[in-house]
Amino acid sequence: MLHHERLRPPSHDYPADEWNVVENAFHPEFLAQLETMLALGNGYLGMRGCPEEGGPKAENGTFINGFYETRPIIYGEEAYGFAKTGQTICNVTDSKIIKLFVDDEPFWLPDAHLLNYDRRLNMKAGTLDREILWETPSGKQVSIRSRRLVSFVNRHVAAISYCVTILNAQASVVISSEMTANEHGTGGNEDDPRLARAFPGRVLHQRASYSKDRRIVLCHATEKSRFTLACATDNALESSCPYSYKVAHTGDFGQVAFTIEAQPGCPIQLTKYMVYHTSQTASSEQLCGRAEWTMDRVMSQGFQTLLASQEHYMDDFWHRSDVRIRDIREDRTKRSTIEVQQAIRFNLFHILQASARAEDTGVAAKGLTGQAYEGHYFWDTEIYLLPFLTYTSPRIARNLLAFRYKMLPQARARAKELGHRGAMFPWRTISGEEASAYYAAGTAQYHINADIMYALRKYVQATGDESFLRDYGAEMLVETARLWADLGFYSDAKGGKFCINGVTGPDEYNAVVNNNAYTNLMARENLRYAAQVVEFLRKTEPDAYNSLVHKTALEPSEATAWTRAAENMYVPYDEKLEIIPQDDSFLNREPWDFQNTPRDRYPLLLFYHPLNIYRKRVIKQADVVLAMFLLGDAIPPKMKKRNFDFYDPLTTGDSSLSSCVEAIIAAQTGDMDKAIRYGMAALLMDLADVGGNVKDGCHIASMGGTWMMLTYGFGGMRDSDGMLSFWPRRAPEENAILRFPLIYRGQMLEIEIGLDKVEYVLREGERLVVRHEMEEVELTRENPLAVRPVSRGLTI
Ligand code: BGC
Repeated sequence: MLHHERLRPPSHDYPADEWNVVENAFHPEFLAQLETMLALGNGYLGMRGCPEEGGPKAENGTFINGFYETRPIIYGEEAYGFAKTGQTICNVTDSKIIKLFVDDEPFWLPDAHLLNYDRRLNMKAGTLDREILWETPSGKQVSIRSRRLVSFVNRHVAAISYCVTILNAQASVVISSEMTANEHGTGGNEDDPRLARAFPGRVLHQRASYSKDRRIVLCHATEKSRFTLACATDNALESSCPYSYKVAHTGDFGQVAFTIEAQPGCPIQLTKYMVYHTSQTASSEQLCGRAEWTMDRVMSQGFQTLLASQEHYMDDFWHRSDVRIRDIREDRTKRSTIEVQQAIRFNLFHILQASARAEDTGVAAKGLTGQAYEGHYFWDTEIYLLPFLTYTSPRIARNLLAFRYKMLPQARARAKELGHRGAMFPWRTISGEEASAYYAAGTAQYHINADIMYALRKYVQATGDESFLRDYGAEMLVETARLWADLGFYSDAKGGKFCINGVTGPDEYNAVVNNNAYTNLMARENLRYAAQVVEFLRKTEPDAYNSLVHKTALEPSEATAWTRAAENMYVPYDEKLEIIPQDDSFLNREPWDFQNTPRDRYPLLLFYHPLNIYRKRVIKQADVVLAMFLLGDAIPPKMKKRNFDFYDPLTTGDSSLSSCVEAIIAAQTGDMDKAIRYGMAALLMDLADVGGNVKDGCHIASMGGTWMMLTYGFGGMRDSDGMLSFWPRRAPEENAILRFPLIYRGQMLEIEIGLDKVEYVLREGERLVVRHEMEEVELTRENPLAVRPVSRGLTI
């Protein structure tokens, strides 16, 4: 099932552009959505796209990844092992405010008479740019040009270049550069479980506040999680117009107000630098000191240096990651192609913004674009984001996997608490502790353990990073394999097969079920891979093996038990329908009455009690269909088709994690029409607000899914057997050419899928063998190019 685009901004005000998301008129009705779409971030620091003036705003937000406050989770009725502590990402000090007054009249977008308005998310440079021509009530024309960036290279730093020129008159101008903390941003609707809960009272407690000339430092700390935050701003003003300034600050507020006697045509250039440092161990004094060191450094370098490093970073990113689409007729002006290109880049750019400098943290479901889902990390990272990162920015992928490794102590403790052996990763968390307050759609999603191991395997295969596997991965494998071995059992009722009961699969509309097929299939992989790696280390790296045994108290018999469980894993199969039932009870459920469910009753989770949903045959998001993608080799093509035909009409797509996967399987099973429709829904999830909640933040998983949809779906890429292979799919009437790079084992491959041929180019590296359809193709530095014809009609 497909939802439809909800956001239909007039195209003349939001023109399609390959490299920019452009807004050419101020539309208050799209304020909230644009705050999300035009948010800037670097994986550590994120700022929603509010105007410089600090308003108007729907939900202003500044976030630091991993900076959260805790609260006790209150249950009406307690039970053993429920998660106890909620964690919510904090809305931290907003430092980006720059207010403008001309002859004492404030510049305020909703009231201003605008002669020109252009705001754009510049995805090539990594900046948010704005150009405005404002005519004041007394007829003075004021040009305001600004560029905002959150630096990828200096992750603690953001900056704004803000230039005001009165074009046609003299004027008295005030530019007030401000910062404010404890501004309440959570417009939490308590009825929507996806949104963050508001904290009563203040979250950031004042620790220090001081100024030095035009520099202001505000320092705050959270009470329970014991984080400290130092936020510093500094302001450089250049102008030949005479000016003076005043500085003021309180515990929660800072202001440097410049009063300028503006001359016609004489630019007033303010550069505002913003620095954030956070820590759970450093004192306020130490942290303020760090913020000042960083500030001294960036101020001495200046805005142009910051901008140049940002552009350089972006060039490198696009070189490694850009997916290009081109119309065969070379008609670059065709709006639909440009729109698709824009949407592709928008998705990839936001993934970068969510993850680039996420060092020692995960990636939140909304990145740093909103507070929804409380800033928590889910399986979204491993299953939806890591494939893109592994193949384009392996360093980021490694950081994210290393972060999971850091959680291992808490995962071990959680397994113990629930009476399991091994380790049990939290369904949702920031700190590493389980934070899901609703176990049926939370803790019960044991599959996250196998998901993380799946991503690990993919990462190791694609990068050849065996040291990571040896030093960190193996330990996680042992502990997760133990979990599965402990959780499952050999069931007489199922012919002695290894069964896993009482879990929730990816589809949260069928909770706490027995033998969820996705879970069993992924657990099987986890068990197999763990046994394989342990055996490999035992045979080839005795020191590493001994250290693993030491760290995990591994018994020699364990790997054999894992292999046995994997080989005997129960995978549900229905003889009559010849499909894989989602779980033991799925086919027994009464079909959901889709016909009499009005469109405005979706997502179902907001309108029906969970029991009404759980007892029916209705699906929130791809589950068996996802398993068919991730473990494609385990399922024969014909069965894939039957499964897809069966599950597709039952899938509401109430989760944004669904469309991209459905597009891939539709492409694989040859339904190109559906593949394109689902693909477009995934691609436009945020730009066209397909899910209706982009105001709350970007759907980062779906964004990663769009890359998978293009590469694995339309590119027909496979990587499960240690070699990259391609079997491109395309719709006969489509004219588009798709081109994308991949980094495989340190070499860069570029693939272009044309109408009837595929071009493989080894851009960087010595030698790479890939498979095209059934044939192995060798690419070398001397012969880097191979062109092969595409055959049609095959399903894989
Ligand atoms: C989905 C989960 C997902 C979470 C965060 C939920 O709606 O059902 O699979 O992990 O959102 O994106």
